[in-house]
Amino acid sequence: MIEFKSISKIFKYKNTEIKALDSVSLHIDNNEMVAIMGPSGSGKTTLLNIAGGIFKQTSGEYLFNNKTVLGNESDMAKFRSDNVGFILQHSALINNRNVLYNISLPLKYKNIEKNKIKEKVLIVTDSLGISNKLEMYPHMLSGGECQRVAIARAVITNPNIILADEPTCSLDDNNKYEVLDILKKLNKEGITIIIATHDDTVAQICDRKINIKNGKIFI
Ligand SMILES: Nc1ncnc2c1ncn2[C@@H]1O[C@H](COP(=O)(O)OP(=O)(O)OP(=O)(O)O)[C@@H](O)[C@H]1O
Ligand SMILES: [Mg+2]
Repeated sequence: MIEFKSISKIFKYKNTEIKALDSVSLHIDNNEMVAIMGPSGSGKTTLLNIAGGIFKQTSGEYLFNNKTVLGNESDMAKFRSDNVGFILQHSALINNRNVLYNISLPLKYKNIEKNKIKEKVLIVTDSLGISNKLEMYPHMLSGGECQRVAIARAVITNPNIILADEPTCSLDDNNKYEVLDILKKLNKEGITIIIATHDDTVAQICDRKINIKNGKIFI
């Protein structure tokens, strides 16, 4: 379970302070699929980054499965690697590495044996219909295929939660619904999913919407 207790995040830039999150309190249960909806600049990415342990809040408390998430950079890296898969808008793949390498990377960080990695990649890519693309480079793939590679990379470590930041906004409708179907299926398999989006059709496939504006949550 994800719990934010009055979390604020203030970015300092030159002489100004930007309050990206303003006393946000929320609960997301294990196995929920939730949309974070709000206009540009409202704090969606900031919220995902705190939930995923990318950076820390300025004040307030973040609990994951009833334990406070804090600590030094290596604790945060362990939290991410044990629990979180990220999917970003433009898939954020490494362009000069092939699909196999891109998907394997999170397991390489966990020092998992090479044969085991290949085996796992084959299972995951098979289920996503991209096992014939392993030797290709990202520029050879369609936008939808890139997002499926990004999903494979996110799920390869069996995360408890997937944080998806505008995962479909660079896709046409067919690819969009395909990616959403995959996310829904992963959710049914037990992964908690949080999607930041502007798109109400994306939010409609979620169990629940959380609206955010100017860093504040409202119903
Ligand atoms: N590293 C940073 N330094 C300074 N300000 C930042 C930083 N990151 C985000 N902000 C500011 O915090 C606010 C919230 O940004 P955030 O990226 O969370 O919005 P968002 O809802 O994801 O927007 P979008 O829909 O455009 O992606 C914005 O005003 C943004 O300019
Ligand atoms: Mg954003």
